[in-house]
Amino acid sequence: MNLVLFGPPGSGKGTQAERLKTKLNLRHISTGDLLRDAVARGTELGKTVQGVLAAGRLVSDDIVLALMRDAISAVEDDRTLSGWLLDGFPRTVGQAEGLDRILDALGQRIDAIVVLDVDRPAVVERLSGRRTCTQCKTVFHVRANPPRVDGVCDRCGGALVQREDDRPETISKRLDVYEAQTRPVLDYYGGRVTMHTVDGGREVDDVTQAIERELK
Ligand code: AP5
Repeated sequence: MNLVLFGPPGSGKGTQAERLKTKLNLRHISTGDLLRDAVARGTELGKTVQGVLAAGRLVSDDIVLALMRDAISAVEDDRTLSGWLLDGFPRTVGQAEGLDRILDALGQRIDAIVVLDVDRPAVVERLSGRRTCTQCKTVFHVRANPPRVDGVCDRCGGALVQREDDRPETISKRLDVYEAQTRPVLDYYGGRVTMHTVDGGREVDDVTQAIERELK
Protein backbone atom coordinates (compact mmCIF):
# COMPACT_ATOMS: atom_id res chain seq x y z
CA MET A 1 0.00 0.00 0.00
CA ASN A 2 1.34 3.44 -0.94
CA LEU A 3 0.01 6.34 1.11
CA VAL A 4 0.41 10.12 1.36
CA LEU A 5 -0.15 11.81 4.73
CA PHE A 6 -1.25 15.36 4.06
CA GLY A 7 -1.92 18.31 6.35
CA PRO A 8 -0.55 21.61 7.63
CA PRO A 9 2.60 21.90 9.73
CA GLY A 10 1.84 20.50 13.18
CA SER A 11 -1.23 18.50 12.10
CA GLY A 12 0.39 15.31 13.40
CA LYS A 13 1.76 13.78 10.18
CA GLY A 14 5.02 12.64 11.79
CA THR A 15 3.27 11.36 14.92
CA GLN A 16 0.74 9.31 12.94
CA ALA A 17 3.35 8.12 10.42
CA GLU A 18 5.41 6.57 13.23
CA ARG A 19 2.39 4.48 14.23
CA LEU A 20 1.09 3.62 10.77
CA LYS A 21 4.44 2.52 9.38
CA THR A 22 4.64 -0.28 11.95
CA LYS A 23 1.02 -1.33 11.68
CA LEU A 24 1.04 -1.36 7.86
CA ASN A 25 4.71 -2.37 7.28
CA LEU A 26 5.47 0.77 5.26
CA ARG A 27 8.65 2.84 4.84
CA HIS A 28 8.04 6.29 6.35
CA ILE A 29 9.58 8.87 4.02
CA SER A 30 9.59 12.40 5.44
CA THR A 31 11.15 15.09 3.29
CA GLY A 32 11.55 17.25 6.40
CA ASP A 33 13.52 14.49 8.16
CA LEU A 34 15.70 13.90 5.08
CA LEU A 35 16.47 17.62 4.78
CA ARG A 36 17.14 18.10 8.54
CA ASP A 37 19.43 15.05 8.46
CA ALA A 38 21.43 16.63 5.61
CA VAL A 39 21.72 19.85 7.63
CA ALA A 40 22.83 17.96 10.77
CA ARG A 41 25.49 16.04 8.80
CA GLY A 42 26.76 19.24 7.15
CA THR A 43 26.54 17.84 3.60
CA GLU A 44 26.54 20.10 0.52
CA LEU A 45 22.76 19.63 0.33
CA GLY A 46 22.47 20.51 4.01
CA LYS A 47 24.45 23.74 3.53
CA THR A 48 22.24 24.67 0.57
CA VAL A 49 18.93 24.16 2.38
CA GLN A 50 19.76 25.19 5.97
CA GLY A 51 18.66 28.81 5.59
CA VAL A 52 15.50 27.86 3.71
CA LEU A 53 14.34 25.52 6.49
CA ALA A 54 15.16 28.04 9.22
CA ALA A 55 13.07 30.68 7.41
CA GLY A 56 10.07 28.36 6.98
CA ARG A 57 10.18 28.58 3.19
CA LEU A 58 10.08 25.62 0.77
CA VAL A 59 13.17 23.97 -0.64
CA SER A 60 13.17 23.97 -4.47
CA ASP A 61 11.14 21.30 -6.26
CA ASP A 62 14.23 20.01 -8.13
CA ILE A 63 16.09 19.22 -4.90
CA VAL A 64 13.12 17.58 -3.23
CA LEU A 65 12.17 15.52 -6.28
CA ALA A 66 15.73 14.16 -6.60
CA LEU A 67 15.62 13.08 -2.93
CA MET A 68 12.24 11.42 -3.35
CA ARG A 69 13.15 9.59 -6.55
CA ASP A 70 15.97 7.85 -4.63
CA ALA A 71 13.88 7.22 -1.52
CA ILE A 72 10.92 5.68 -3.37
CA SER A 73 13.16 3.57 -5.61
CA ALA A 74 14.89 2.20 -2.49
CA VAL A 75 11.55 0.93 -1.17
CA GLU A 76 10.99 -1.00 -4.38
CA ASP A 77 14.33 -2.75 -3.84
CA ASP A 78 13.33 -3.82 -0.30
CA ARG A 79 11.05 -6.84 -0.66
CA THR A 80 10.30 -6.96 3.10
CA LEU A 81 8.19 -3.76 2.90
CA SER A 82 4.55 -3.45 1.82
CA GLY A 83 4.94 0.06 0.41
CA TRP A 84 5.64 3.64 1.41
CA LEU A 85 4.11 6.42 3.47
CA LEU A 86 4.97 9.94 2.32
CA ASP A 87 4.98 12.72 4.95
CA GLY A 88 5.47 16.36 3.92
CA PHE A 89 5.55 15.59 0.20
CA PRO A 90 4.26 16.54 -2.33
CA ARG A 91 4.01 20.13 -1.13
CA THR A 92 3.55 22.00 -4.40
CA VAL A 93 1.65 21.20 -7.59
CA GLY A 94 5.06 21.00 -9.31
CA GLN A 95 6.12 18.30 -6.84
CA ALA A 96 2.86 16.40 -7.40
CA GLU A 97 3.47 16.45 -11.16
CA GLY A 98 7.06 15.29 -10.60
CA LEU A 99 5.83 12.49 -8.31
CA ASP A 100 3.47 11.33 -11.06
CA ARG A 101 6.44 11.06 -13.42
CA ILE A 102 8.51 9.12 -10.85
CA LEU A 103 5.65 6.70 -10.15
CA ASP A 104 4.86 6.22 -13.85
CA ALA A 105 8.48 5.25 -14.47
CA LEU A 106 8.36 2.74 -11.59
CA GLY A 107 4.89 1.40 -12.49
CA GLN A 108 3.53 2.48 -9.09
CA ARG A 109 0.68 4.64 -7.87
CA ILE A 110 -0.67 6.37 -4.77
CA ASP A 111 -3.37 4.16 -3.23
CA ALA A 112 -4.80 6.81 -0.90
CA ILE A 113 -4.23 10.28 0.54
CA VAL A 114 -5.03 10.80 4.23
CA VAL A 115 -5.71 14.46 5.01
CA LEU A 116 -5.32 15.53 8.65
CA ASP A 117 -7.70 18.40 9.29
CA VAL A 118 -6.61 20.65 12.19
CA ASP A 119 -7.38 24.34 12.66
CA ARG A 120 -4.71 27.04 12.81
CA PRO A 121 -4.83 27.88 16.55
CA ALA A 122 -4.41 24.18 17.40
CA VAL A 123 -1.38 23.68 15.15
CA VAL A 124 0.27 26.84 16.50
CA GLU A 125 -0.15 25.46 20.04
CA ARG A 126 1.23 22.07 19.00
CA LEU A 127 4.26 23.43 17.21
CA SER A 128 5.20 25.85 20.00
CA GLY A 129 5.15 22.96 22.50
CA ARG A 130 6.90 20.35 20.36
CA ARG A 131 10.20 18.90 21.56
CA THR A 132 12.26 16.45 19.51
CA CYS A 133 14.95 14.00 20.65
CA THR A 134 18.39 14.90 19.30
CA GLN A 135 19.30 11.18 19.15
CA CYS A 136 16.33 9.03 18.06
CA LYS A 137 14.10 11.89 16.75
CA THR A 138 11.08 10.84 18.86
CA VAL A 139 8.60 13.72 19.07
CA PHE A 140 7.02 14.92 22.34
CA HIS A 141 4.79 17.80 23.36
CA VAL A 142 5.27 19.69 26.61
CA ARG A 143 1.58 19.38 27.49
CA ALA A 144 -0.15 16.81 25.21
CA ASN A 145 2.61 14.18 25.28
CA PRO A 146 5.28 15.18 27.84
CA PRO A 147 8.38 13.07 28.53
CA ARG A 148 8.56 11.41 31.96
CA VAL A 149 11.62 13.56 32.82
CA ASP A 150 11.66 17.15 31.59
CA GLY A 151 14.03 17.57 28.62
CA VAL A 152 14.97 13.86 28.41
CA CYS A 153 13.75 11.34 25.81
CA ASP A 154 11.73 8.43 27.29
CA ARG A 155 12.92 6.09 24.57
CA CYS A 156 16.71 6.62 24.47
CA GLY A 157 17.64 9.17 27.15
CA GLY A 158 18.73 11.74 24.52
CA ALA A 159 18.31 15.50 25.02
CA LEU A 160 15.03 17.06 23.81
CA VAL A 161 15.24 20.30 21.83
CA GLN A 162 12.90 22.75 20.11
CA ARG A 163 13.14 22.74 16.31
CA GLU A 164 14.62 25.94 14.89
CA ASP A 165 11.57 26.48 12.66
CA ASP A 166 9.15 26.17 15.62
CA ARG A 167 9.70 29.79 16.72
CA PRO A 168 6.46 31.85 16.59
CA GLU A 169 7.33 34.02 13.57
CA THR A 170 8.50 31.00 11.55
CA ILE A 171 5.43 28.94 12.47
CA SER A 172 3.24 31.69 11.06
CA LYS A 173 5.29 31.82 7.85
CA ARG A 174 5.09 28.02 7.41
CA LEU A 175 1.31 28.09 7.80
CA ASP A 176 1.02 30.85 5.20
CA VAL A 177 3.21 28.85 2.81
CA TYR A 178 0.96 25.82 3.38
CA GLU A 179 -2.18 27.75 2.45
CA ALA A 180 -0.61 29.36 -0.63
CA GLN A 181 1.46 26.53 -2.09
CA THR A 182 0.49 23.22 -0.49
CA ARG A 183 -3.29 23.18 -0.04
CA PRO A 184 -3.76 23.50 -3.86
CA VAL A 185 -2.15 20.06 -4.21
CA LEU A 186 -5.45 18.59 -2.96
CA ASP A 187 -7.23 20.06 -5.99
CA TYR A 188 -4.58 18.54 -8.23
CA TYR A 189 -5.44 15.05 -6.93
CA GLY A 190 -9.19 15.65 -6.61
CA GLY A 191 -11.21 12.96 -8.41
CA ARG A 192 -8.05 11.01 -9.34
CA VAL A 193 -6.82 9.58 -6.03
CA THR A 194 -8.92 8.29 -3.11
CA MET A 195 -8.88 10.88 -0.32
CA HIS A 196 -9.78 10.35 3.34
CA THR A 197 -10.16 13.45 5.49
CA VAL A 198 -9.76 12.77 9.21
CA ASP A 199 -10.33 15.12 12.14
CA GLY A 200 -6.73 15.49 13.34
CA GLY A 201 -7.75 17.71 16.25
CA ARG A 202 -8.57 14.78 18.54
CA GLU A 203 -6.36 12.70 20.84
CA VAL A 204 -3.45 10.95 19.11
CA ASP A 205 -4.94 7.44 19.62
CA ASP A 206 -8.34 8.55 18.31
CA VAL A 207 -6.74 9.98 15.17
CA THR A 208 -4.82 6.73 14.55
CA GLN A 209 -8.02 4.70 14.94
CA ALA A 210 -9.92 7.02 12.60
CA ILE A 211 -7.22 6.64 9.93
CA GLU A 212 -7.26 2.87 10.30
CA ARG A 213 -11.04 2.79 9.94
CA GLU A 214 -10.84 4.91 6.78
CA LEU A 215 -8.20 2.65 5.22
CA LYS A 216 -10.07 -0.64 5.82
P1 AP5 B 1 8.44 19.11 7.76
O1 AP5 B 1 9.41 18.44 8.64
O2 AP5 B 1 7.72 18.32 6.72
O3 AP5 B 1 7.45 19.91 8.68
P2 AP5 B 1 5.90 20.24 8.56
O4 AP5 B 1 5.13 19.74 7.39
O5 AP5 B 1 5.90 21.69 8.77
O6 AP5 B 1 5.29 19.36 9.63
P3 AP5 B 1 5.81 19.21 11.07
O7 AP5 B 1 6.91 18.20 11.15
O8 AP5 B 1 6.08 20.54 11.67
O9 AP5 B 1 4.48 18.68 11.78
P4 AP5 B 1 3.74 17.28 11.72
O10 AP5 B 1 2.48 17.42 10.92
O11 AP5 B 1 4.67 16.17 11.35
O12 AP5 B 1 3.32 17.20 13.25
P5 AP5 B 1 3.96 16.34 14.46
O13 AP5 B 1 3.51 14.91 14.34
O14 AP5 B 1 5.42 16.60 14.61
O15 AP5 B 1 9.13 20.32 6.95
C1 AP5 B 1 10.02 21.22 7.58
C2 AP5 B 1 10.64 22.14 6.53
O16 AP5 B 1 11.40 21.36 5.58
C3 AP5 B 1 9.65 22.92 5.65
O17 AP5 B 1 9.22 24.13 6.28
C4 AP5 B 1 10.50 23.18 4.39
O18 AP5 B 1 11.43 24.21 4.60
C5 AP5 B 1 11.25 21.86 4.25
N1 AP5 B 1 10.50 20.88 3.45
C6 AP5 B 1 10.02 19.69 3.91
N2 AP5 B 1 9.39 19.03 2.93
C7 AP5 B 1 9.48 19.83 1.82
C8 AP5 B 1 8.99 19.69 0.49
N3 AP5 B 1 8.28 18.62 0.10
N4 AP5 B 1 9.27 20.70 -0.37
C9 AP5 B 1 9.98 21.78 0.01
N5 AP5 B 1 10.45 21.97 1.25
C10 AP5 B 1 10.20 20.99 2.15
O19 AP5 B 1 3.16 17.00 15.68
C11 AP5 B 1 3.42 18.33 16.08
C12 AP5 B 1 3.31 18.43 17.61
O20 AP5 B 1 1.96 18.14 18.00
C13 AP5 B 1 4.19 17.42 18.37
O21 AP5 B 1 4.67 18.01 19.55
C14 AP5 B 1 3.22 16.25 18.71
O22 AP5 B 1 3.60 15.59 19.90
C15 AP5 B 1 1.90 17.02 18.87
N6 AP5 B 1 0.74 16.25 18.44
C16 AP5 B 1 0.65 15.45 17.35
N7 AP5 B 1 -0.58 14.92 17.25
C17 AP5 B 1 -1.30 15.44 18.31
C18 AP5 B 1 -2.66 15.28 18.76
N8 AP5 B 1 -3.54 14.51 18.09
N9 AP5 B 1 -3.04 15.97 19.86
C19 AP5 B 1 -2.17 16.78 20.53
N10 AP5 B 1 -0.87 16.95 20.16
C20 AP5 B 1 -0.45 16.29 19.05
